[in-house]
Amino acid sequence: MSDPRQIAAEMLQKVLTDKAFFSDVKNAADSLAGKDAAFTNMLVLTALRRLVFLKKVLKQYAKKKLPEKAAFAEYVLFLGLTEILFMDTPDYAIINSWVDIAKKKTDKYVAGFVNAVLRKACADREELKKHDLGEFFTPEFYRILDHAYGKKTVSKIQSASLKEPPLDITVKSSPEIWAEKLGGTLLPTGSIRLKNNGKIMEIEGFENGDWWIQDAAAALPVKCLGKIDGLKILDMCAAPGGKTAQLINAGAEVTSLDISESRLKKLRDNMLRLRFPEPQTICADGVEYLQNYKGEPFDIILLDAPCSATGTLRRHPEIVHIKTTSDIEKQVNLQRKLLNVAANALKKDGVLLYCVCSITQAEGEEQIRSFLESHSEFKLCPLKANDICDTDKASQITDIFTKEGFIRTLPFHLSEYGGIDSFFIAKLRKVA
Ligand SMILES: C[S@@+](CC[C@H](N)C(=O)[O-])C[C@H]1O[C@@H](n2cnc3c(N)ncnc32)[C@H](O)[C@@H]1O
Repeated sequence: MSDPRQIAAEMLQKVLTDKAFFSDVKNAADSLAGKDAAFTNMLVLTALRRLVFLKKVLKQYAKKKLPEKAAFAEYVLFLGLTEILFMDTPDYAIINSWVDIAKKKTDKYVAGFVNAVLRKACADREELKKHDLGEFFTPEFYRILDHAYGKKTVSKIQSASLKEPPLDITVKSSPEIWAEKLGGTLLPTGSIRLKNNGKIMEIEGFENGDWWIQDAAAALPVKCLGKIDGLKILDMCAAPGGKTAQLINAGAEVTSLDISESRLKKLRDNMLRLRFPEPQTICADGVEYLQNYKGEPFDIILLDAPCSATGTLRRHPEIVHIKTTSDIEKQVNLQRKLLNVAANALKKDGVLLYCVCSITQAEGEEQIRSFLESHSEFKLCPLKANDICDTDKASQITDIFTKEGFIRTLPFHLSEYGGIDSFFIAKLRKVA
């Protein structure tokens, strides 16, 4: 029978050594029963969120680095410590299980060491917890942030990012009625926040296509466009289609482009479930497609650009451990190319809406400032709270707007509702 803890250790190993995304290794837990799969996933995610602290703890007990052949014991220890410090498993179950796995995957000497460390940690638990400062970011991740945020803000970002993210949905219509029906909370921005438990497919309205999953932050860009019915819009990096769905729902004439055919298939499946007419899809590299574009120019281009995804730390804590500054540079270059070609395919007075689910300013604020410097034909349309919500709710979201007129959400925004992903949004108009 598969052992959930061993599967968890193998998943953690893949993420940390192969730099795999958690979503790519998660299927290893699929063979387990529902409760075991949930435990396995939660164990790995908690270890990834707490890894910086866990490393600090382990250093106290293992002064020297473990030998190569015992490398697997490190994952065993990280996960054993996670259970001791952050989960409610009884100590005897934790120690015996992890020692058995260490014996199986390494040797009896290493297993003896695992046994000694975990026993000591159980005895020291309360003392160890006192030294937990809620640290999440690695030195490399600080380099990625590049001093964009002050010390206080970084500390707020870290503690908000350590929390389990809620489940947000966007409904086609009548959000108040749906919030009540599903026992959710209607956010000031119009998304509905559900209690994240149970199977999504079993929630009322899923099968009928009345709503789709979309973090409250990801739902904001399309709201910034205002009235768009009948307008010709290019959703330039469209899959899996959360924003395409919003655009179609608002009556726009949408073309959904993406470089990935498999992701576009997902988009088409999603639109089918939502009972929208089949969207026009184009599988192409956005840069190549628009570089020599001779078709009718678009009223609006929505560029939800490929990015570091560092805005989704709550959902993807592995990002802190696998992204590097050179990954950010690559994305910045691609985003610049996509922005440049999008500029050519817009009508005069057309709108270019740029957004990224990234917390780095290189992909957000700095990217757009530099675009505006080199494209005098574009002007920034400053965004305000009234653009995306009713006046009586506007005061609840003022902190997501920057002085320059961008939207910059951070994980601790909307904290009274449980936080939000980090997103950057800029609305630009082609004035000449
Ligand atoms: C942030 S995701 C888009 C999410 C989507 N807008 C939504 O709301 O569901 C970025 C997308 O960009 C696509 N992509 C990456 N490079 C691209 C390129 N050069 N041209 C077009 N699409 C690209 C990826 O396949 C990915 O689906």
